[in-house]
Amino acid sequence: MSRLRLGVNIDHVATLRNARGGAHPCPVQAAQMAERAGADGITLHLREDRRHIRDEDVLAIKRAISIPMNFEMAATPAMQAFALKLKPHAVCIVPERREERTTEGGLEVVAAKDYLAAFIAPLTQAGIRVSLFVAADTAQIHAAKAVGAPVIELHTGHYAECTGEKQAHALEALAQAASLAHSLGLEVHAGHGLSYDNTPPVAAIPEVTELNIGHFLIGQAVFDGLSKVIERMRGIMDEARA
Ligand code: PXP
Repeated sequence: MSRLRLGVNIDHVATLRNARGGAHPCPVQAAQMAERAGADGITLHLREDRRHIRDEDVLAIKRAISIPMNFEMAATPAMQAFALKLKPHAVCIVPERREERTTEGGLEVVAAKDYLAAFIAPLTQAGIRVSLFVAADTAQIHAAKAVGAPVIELHTGHYAECTGEKQAHALEALAQAASLAHSLGLEVHAGHGLSYDNTPPVAAIPEVTELNIGHFLIGQAVFDGLSKVIERMRGIMDEARA
């Protein structure tokens, strides 16, 4: 099986910084540390309300890292304009509601097919690899292919939240979705709510090529330090893949 890439989402370093309004802890420093610890990419979400990452963070991180940046954003004209200026390696289009704590569900691609096809085209033409953050849902995956996205990221939040038989079903749905997407020629990523405990079964899905993990890594870094936590997650992923 191919090596699984680890994208480290550093949004919550900025959440912590913003709690005090100063400059510490610095997301740029966190991104550089993640790179040194073995991250394959840095993921960050510029939300409309700028509650964690801010415009200047995105620009500074882009300058400071040499691994790919995966820029998560809502499908709005303002975000599209920002991305076209920034030219990150990749953009991941996510649904966004102001009142949510995090990205709670997958993107509604089926109902927004025409809008998304037109939205994605200029990003692709600018050389940015576009992915759509979707639920493990057959119709959404076919729609992602139809609108011209080369990549999907499967939302693992439901899988991460449940236990027992429900979790086994959720994992099966992820595996089937990954297989369908791969058969359509899409690259498959996954993320949301992943931790040391629940990552191995997702990492073992052969069609998945990248995991994006944030909240757990930043939270666990309080106890163990960011480098150590990333190294351990890297090890867990490699072991699951072997
Ligand atoms: N992937 C996407 C598209 C996301 O929106 C998020 C959360 O911002 C993540 C991955 C990471 O999720 P978590 O912080 O729960 O690891």
